[in-house]
Amino acid sequence: MDITDLGTVLQKVNRFRPELILNTAAFTDVDQNEIFPDQSFRVNALGPRNVAVAARLVGARLVHFSTDFVFDGKKQGAYQEWDHPNPLSVYGKVKLAGEELIRQTYGMHYIVRTSWLFGENGKNLLSTLHEKLLAKQNVRVISDQTGSPTYSLDLARAVKMLVQSPAFGTYHLSNSGCCSRFELAKEAAALLNCPEHLITPITGRELNLPAARPESSVLDNYCWRLMGFPPLRHYRLAYREFLQEQGVH
Ligand SMILES: NC(=O)c1ccc[n+]([C@@H]2O[C@H](COP(=O)([O-])OP(=O)(O)OC[C@H]3O[C@@H](n4cnc5c(N)ncnc54)[C@H](OP(=O)(O)O)[C@@H]3O)[C@@H](O)[C@H]2O)c1
Repeated sequence: MDITDLGTVLQKVNRFRPELILNTAAFTDVDQNEIFPDQSFRVNALGPRNVAVAARLVGARLVHFSTDFVFDGKKQGAYQEWDHPNPLSVYGKVKLAGEELIRQTYGMHYIVRTSWLFGENGKNLLSTLHEKLLAKQNVRVISDQTGSPTYSLDLARAVKMLVQSPAFGTYHLSNSGCCSRFELAKEAAALLNCPEHLITPITGRELNLPAARPESSVLDNYCWRLMGFPPLRHYRLAYREFLQEQGVH
């Protein structure tokens, strides 16, 4: 269903009357968001508002996914949940607006900010890189952006734990550890037995993309930790397991 269509969202949710809704729908191409800001606001801000209205209608708990891009990346150190957001891009702004519209609409929410997802399905942080490295193609990778790569399976497991408790609110959930995109690419090359010289570091500025990205958007899972949940493992462990499951490593 199209989450921008409030009537349809209400109708579907009312029909199935779920106890729990996970909203993973989003317009995620950061540069396209810059080019199509109305569509960006419609999907990433009004869409989550619509889902929250529907969740309220049936009393369902709502999990909504947000992003490290709500921050400007200028902080020395990792971002905690109540650090002041200051998005640099349209994508970051509308994701933040989506969070705020959910908070205004309905209390039974978990807003989960995560970062740099990789996993089995879809195009993601690592899929294009793997394709190119395995085809022995040269890749240019940004070296001046740092974040926490996060395995979608680890995120799903954490969310499953989180929703057992009615501790509604905003959470950062990323794997531990952090790296630059270039460092991650070098790790990928080593694990895939591909020569490191295929990877050339470049700056974000050199790529001249429409949307600005935060330089360092490492998330600290602070609320998660305070609540006594077990830390998410280091992204390197998660990455190795992911490759093993793919039969690559
Ligand atoms: N990937 C990351 O690194 C990352 C990092 C931080 C946060 N997040 C957040 O995590 C969530 C999931 O991200 P993802 O990487 O899985 O995104 P994704 O692969 O781009 O998937 C988003 C999905 O939303 C669907 N969608 C787009 N517009 C829609 C609409 N109007 N109604 C219903 N569905 C719609 C898309 O369908 P179509 O393909 O048919 O358009 C797609 O299936 C998003 O909220 C994103 O902001 C992702």
